[in-house]
Amino acid sequence: MTSFQYGEEKNMKKILDRITDEVKTAFIACGYDEKYAKVTLSNRPDLCEYQCNGAMAAVREYKKAPLIIAEEVAAKLKENPVFSMAEAVKPGFLNLKLCDAFVAEFMNDMDADARLGCEEAKEPKTIIIDYGGPNVAKPLHVGHLRSAVIGESIKRIGKFMGHHIIGDVHLGDWGLQMGLIITELKLRRPELVYFDENYSGEYPAEPPFTISELEEIYPTASKKSKEDASYKEAAMQATYELQHGRKGYQALLSHILNVSVTDLKRNYENLNVSFELWKGESDAQPYIPDMVKKMKEDGFAYISDGALVVDVKEESDTKEVPPCMILKSDGASLYNTTDLATIVWRMKDYDPDMLIYVVDKRQELYFTQVFRCARKTGLVKPETELKFLGFGTMNGKDGKPFKTREGGVMRLEVLLSEINEEMYNKIRDNQNMTDEEARKTAKIVALSAVKYGDLSNQASKDYIFDIERFTSFEGNTGPYILYTIVRIKSILNKYKDAGKSADGAKILPPHSEDEKALMLEIGRFNAMMENAFEETAPHKVCAYIYDVANAFNHFYHNTKIMAEEDVTLQASYIRLLELTKRVLETCIDVLGFSAPDKM
Ligand code: ARG
Repeated sequence: MTSFQYGEEKNMKKILDRITDEVKTAFIACGYDEKYAKVTLSNRPDLCEYQCNGAMAAVREYKKAPLIIAEEVAAKLKENPVFSMAEAVKPGFLNLKLCDAFVAEFMNDMDADARLGCEEAKEPKTIIIDYGGPNVAKPLHVGHLRSAVIGESIKRIGKFMGHHIIGDVHLGDWGLQMGLIITELKLRRPELVYFDENYSGEYPAEPPFTISELEEIYPTASKKSKEDASYKEAAMQATYELQHGRKGYQALLSHILNVSVTDLKRNYENLNVSFELWKGESDAQPYIPDMVKKMKEDGFAYISDGALVVDVKEESDTKEVPPCMILKSDGASLYNTTDLATIVWRMKDYDPDMLIYVVDKRQELYFTQVFRCARKTGLVKPETELKFLGFGTMNGKDGKPFKTREGGVMRLEVLLSEINEEMYNKIRDNQNMTDEEARKTAKIVALSAVKYGDLSNQASKDYIFDIERFTSFEGNTGPYILYTIVRIKSILNKYKDAGKSADGAKILPPHSEDEKALMLEIGRFNAMMENAFEETAPHKVCAYIYDVANAFNHFYHNTKIMAEEDVTLQASYIRLLELTKRVLETCIDVLGFSAPDKM
């Protein structure tokens, strides 16, 4: 058998690069520059698998008809065992098909590689991803869903590519909401030691409230403060005292944090989302005084209308970018100040190459100000990349931001349990499952519905959260992908139960167009993954697995696998199935969900 690998090359190339290399050699052999040899996926799959349009571009340099150039190169490529077809067509396209043996060898190389042919980053980067962004003492709502789901996936893609990725939840734990809670609590239970300014002992270890009490206290307080100016005044005063070191209030803050974070962790766990760091806005506060001092000393920060600001507009701006406000006229810090000081500790503790913020795209201008200010004042190195990954709004079927039936903000927990229920109803009818199994499976499949429904859209776009569509087993959905994996698992089990094993077997050259199409889809894995990382684009992973799942299902419907009598061929099919399963499972893992054994 011909071997298509050349030299000592150990790392697997991307299939397109591999083909491009061959086409380059042919261009050079015909006396043309290799820069014209770029190969792309065919946009006429009915005619060919790959194409090269370089002959058309080469016309100017060589003053020859494009078709002649294409014909010369095609003639060269016909001698090349990598291709089963190399055809020049008018006006100068080069249509290519790969030879079956080459495709099979590519499959076997992927199969033999623990990383499915995807090279790890040679120079791993340290990247901090700021995502989640929940606010302490306020329940998670659907607005926090996108940040968590997208951030987690980007983190996993980066880790898979071999980078050092640190996820930081960046809790909203610094602001008026703390003062509101303290004020309301003081009104209800003034006898608590936290309010006694003369108290000097230890504060109780037990929190004075449960999470459900806390979640009731906050909205109540928030409502009151909107209706009652003196109440709001009191809350602002409490916030001020908390931020200026009042002991009893700080003790309360840590109770609020503990109770709230325990609950948040449980919620994120249900989403299969986790964070390396549980830092919050409060952790940035100690860095503010020195940072502000330096900004002033270096002449960047100046007083304007009483407030301290840094100019961040640039000549090329087409829209006005207002100055970045560092301190309010009363000396209080702001959301900006906290984000800037957070950059200070992130640089100091981790020296990251890149910071990625997965935040609602409506905060884009704000982050432009923060990034420019950080760069201008030297909080980051010139080479530190600052990236804002703004996501669009999750809308309801009416095209307006997703709400409860009553029109309120939907709690994430409520949303998830509704989808779990919907999924459970679909799965329950599966006879060979106990009720407990059905519940467990429903949870796994429901998570795929939510995450895939979100991630399959380009992050920056708004999308419609359509439970019915997302939970469907057909179409471009998470459950469809899982269904495909489960189908593969079931065939593999049947094969095993028949006492057979494909261990050590090779994947043979494809026996049908459907099988070859599946192989070509699978072969795109390494290029796709690299690209999804570079473009921080989980939707590319979704689009890819949808293609793989479709190609697999075509193959499956047109191929007798279990009834195949040729044992070598059957073992080859089984290995291809195992490879397909690995590819799909690796992809859903970076998307942040998993597949059940049956459904
Ligand atoms: N807590 C904020 C919110 O709920 C999101 C925080 C985003 N991250 C940041 N570094 N500012 O809107």
